[in-house]
Amino acid sequence: MVSFDEMHRRSLEDPEGFWAGAAEAVHWHERWDRVLDASDPPYYRWFSGGKLNTCYNALDRHVKAGRGDQTALIYDSPVTDTVRHYSYSQLRDETAKLAGAMAARGVGKGDRVIIYMPMVPEAIMAMLACARLGAIHSVVFGGFAANELATRIDDCAPKLVLSASCGIEAARIVPYKPLLDAAIMMAVHKPERCIVLQRPQERCELMAGRDEDWAEVMATAEPHDCVPVAATDTLYVLYTSGTTGQPKGIVRDTGGHAVALTWSMRHIYDIKPGEVYWAASDIGWVVGHSYIVYAPLMYGATTVVYEGKPVGTPDAGAFWRVIQQHKVATLFTAPTAFRAIRQQDPNGELLRDYDLGDFRALFLAGERCDPDTLEWAQEKLGRPVIDHWWQTETGWSIAANCLGVEALPIKPGSPTRAVPGWDLKVLDTDGREMAPGTIGAICGKLPMPPGTFPTIWGAKERYSKTYLREYPGYYQTGDAGYLDEDGYVFVMARTDDIINVAGHRLSTGAMEEVLASHPDVAECAVIGVADTLKGQLPVGFMVLNKGVERPDAEIVKEVVAMVRDRIGPVAAFKQATVVPRLPKTRSGKILRATMRQIADGESYKTPATIDDPTILDEIDESLQGIGLAQRQA
Ligand code: COA
Ligand code: AMP
Repeated sequence: MVSFDEMHRRSLEDPEGFWAGAAEAVHWHERWDRVLDASDPPYYRWFSGGKLNTCYNALDRHVKAGRGDQTALIYDSPVTDTVRHYSYSQLRDETAKLAGAMAARGVGKGDRVIIYMPMVPEAIMAMLACARLGAIHSVVFGGFAANELATRIDDCAPKLVLSASCGIEAARIVPYKPLLDAAIMMAVHKPERCIVLQRPQERCELMAGRDEDWAEVMATAEPHDCVPVAATDTLYVLYTSGTTGQPKGIVRDTGGHAVALTWSMRHIYDIKPGEVYWAASDIGWVVGHSYIVYAPLMYGATTVVYEGKPVGTPDAGAFWRVIQQHKVATLFTAPTAFRAIRQQDPNGELLRDYDLGDFRALFLAGERCDPDTLEWAQEKLGRPVIDHWWQTETGWSIAANCLGVEALPIKPGSPTRAVPGWDLKVLDTDGREMAPGTIGAICGKLPMPPGTFPTIWGAKERYSKTYLREYPGYYQTGDAGYLDEDGYVFVMARTDDIINVAGHRLSTGAMEEVLASHPDVAECAVIGVADTLKGQLPVGFMVLNKGVERPDAEIVKEVVAMVRDRIGPVAAFKQATVVPRLPKTRSGKILRATMRQIADGESYKTPATIDDPTILDEIDESLQGIGLAQRQA
């Protein structure tokens, strides 16, 4: 067994040798010419010249290896009272048919397909069917509104949309089809066709000539074989929040992704093929892409597709029930899920009703994991709880405790150390390396490892400007934090105006754009304030136009509805307040960080550059009016 240090050192000293070794676990139709193409820095490509197919790696190869009867996917849906198992053969056959149906409708290599679906097995088949054809999928999370869907449709111009009549939340049915129809109405690049899964809980109208019923399409479909694509071809585009209302289409390539994700299953998560691996997330997020769909299936594990919540479906014992019933070895979710469970069952009494059997470890990511939650989970579960840090951009961990290599001591508050392939540095504003324990911009030395994003869809300049320019030779993660003496990473905050609500990444800039479009609003700011359940929650501040005499409460209600309507319920935007003025620097920059400190009841220093310090008292007062800014005595 090699030590973690040794493995990490080798990955940096000889990245080509290291990743070429890892690539042996993947099936290639043609081997690569170069492991790392470094001919055009700061742009790097992995496995140039190689050809493979991700769906072949995820399904067909396991069937061909005689493991077709093994369970590939368990669909567990407490909201519809369903549990269904799919073997690798069944999943391959269904996926091949769906791919055939898509091909018959003109979808081929390089075409884009939007998937706007709830957590049902068909959504996973949809992703894999795209991969089978070499088509590029873009999954849009169900909690986004029509406008967000339209923005994504226009950015990637899909030929086809795969959707469902509805999603099912704990307390309500969410009709997806009206949102899809509205999005297509708004979009300029209208897709030619939609295939819609009719769910019995709420069926929908289909538009003649454009929409087709999923079941009917599948009934006549012929299976389609896997199309080998270049390792550097795009597997998917996943949109994530940037600093403006225009989301960024993170591009994932095919070869590097297959290699890194397959490697991670053994080395980070310590899973063996055939074991049950459960990522309680949603396919709309990167965690869902990587660890509900691609990694577990490429590795030959069994994945769980869970359509439910940690609490309320039916209670805070939901996760323990799933672990027991399906013999889950490893669970991956966001800390917010554990905060929700803890809030409902602080003493972990419900745990006593279940036998967690061979459950080995809990992995958490998506937001900063507060030590309190980590320690609670560790104590109640009696298993290691591993915080790991990653981003949509990177596709897999930047920092983790690689249980399959060597379990390092856990330091609550830290996602442990940079994983193999990542050389992390903390830099000051002049790009100088900072001393251990000092907070700065966390950056990764280029090249980033395989599986990380090579560009933004249709926006190479934005890619370069946002991530590569400020610190030449480095990837700027957008996170601030520090490294300690042992090389442990501590991720403390974002350096931009992105906030993290229940593990969901949101742009306050996008919310500000919505507030600013209200006819009575002259100026506004949105900040993320601390929340004990969701980590952060957005709060809006509005300065009204002169002469507006309507009650503030009415305007607040309207902007709350506008954000829900334009961005979606996932924004969880429920609080806003009217203020006479916004605090600004003399050069006119809104002092969002100070406003956040006031809202969180932290002590703060009045910034030296402030235009008028009395405005901070006004902000304090307004926040107290909505129950925030309660300073510790
Ligand atoms: N389709 C439609 N609406 C959705 C949705 C979906 N797929 N997912 C969430 N929503 C809605 C919710 O119903 C809620 O609506 P509401 O304002 O009417 O109540 C809103 O979006 C906000 O959702 P969320 O922030 O998730 O809050 P919640 O109260 O529904 O659940 C948690 C809170 C903590 C239980 C939940 O966020 C959770 O399980 N998180 C952990 C797992 C995870 O999502 N990880 C992501 C990255 S790993
Ligand atoms: P997303 O792209 O939605 O996965 O969000 C990525 C962002 O979430 C990161 O840039 C961090 O700000 C935050 N994040 C994810 N995982 C962690 C973690 N383990 N610790 C601290 N922050 C995290």
